Amino acid sequence: MNQISGKGTFQHHVFGDESRRQFDSCYPEQAGLLDHNMFSHELLTLDALARLGTSLPEKSIEYNPGDLPVGIKPEDVPGNVMTIGDTIRKIDQSASWAVLKNIEQMPEYEALLNSLLSEIRPILKPQGYIFVSSPDAVTPYHFDPEHNILLQLRGEKWMTTFPAGNAHYAADEIHEGYHLGGHRNLVWQDDFEAEGTRHHLTPGKAIFVPVMAPHFCEGRPGTEHLALDHLAQRLEL
Ligand SMILES: [Fe+2]
Repeated sequence: MNQISGKGTFQHHVFGDESRRQFDSCYPEQAGLLDHNMFSHELLTLDALARLGTSLPEKSIEYNPGDLPVGIKPEDVPGNVMTIGDTIRKIDQSASWAVLKNIEQMPEYEALLNSLLSEIRPILKPQGYIFVSSPDAVTPYHFDPEHNILLQLRGEKWMTTFPAGNAHYAADEIHEGYHLGGHRNLVWQDDFEAEGTRHHLTPGKAIFVPVMAPHFCEGRPGTEHLALDHLAQRLEL
């Protein structure tokens, strides 16, 4: 059933000494850029990711058009016309955005994630998401309920981050609504843009995003990245 190719382990150091020190100085509250060298891994090519998307259960896949405004309401996001495999293989032309959730369900990817995270935080066990987005795709303004490390694998994008725990950027009632099952997209105001920190992500760059730190992304052609998620959640185990 699981026909994904690749050995599933990563032999080299993904994060160098400087990046490991940088992560330690950021974690858990500050966003910060790191360097990585995992962008050429055989499990992370577009073909491998298309096979992964086809192999994962439906509940672990989400994809939709990527040419959306930063502040779009969740109920206004339109539906799909392509399969997940075609969306990923043709990501350069499909004007889409896809996320493969909990890739650690597949043994090769679980080994890859464990190998990767063990370099920076041996006590944490990651969950991994892979995001694949078309040229100029936008990931709307939102926050996530876990710490994230995003590794840019291909193409380039800009991520703008805002401080966690600041009601100016995410009102208290939005936090409360989220914890009661609401959507993670936040209410955007155009004057926020000048107040955020804009990070340039290219292959080989990674970014640590603290839990509940609001952020949005603007992509350039072929902008898939790997996200290590739920670090805080796993830390509590
Ligand atoms: Fe996010």
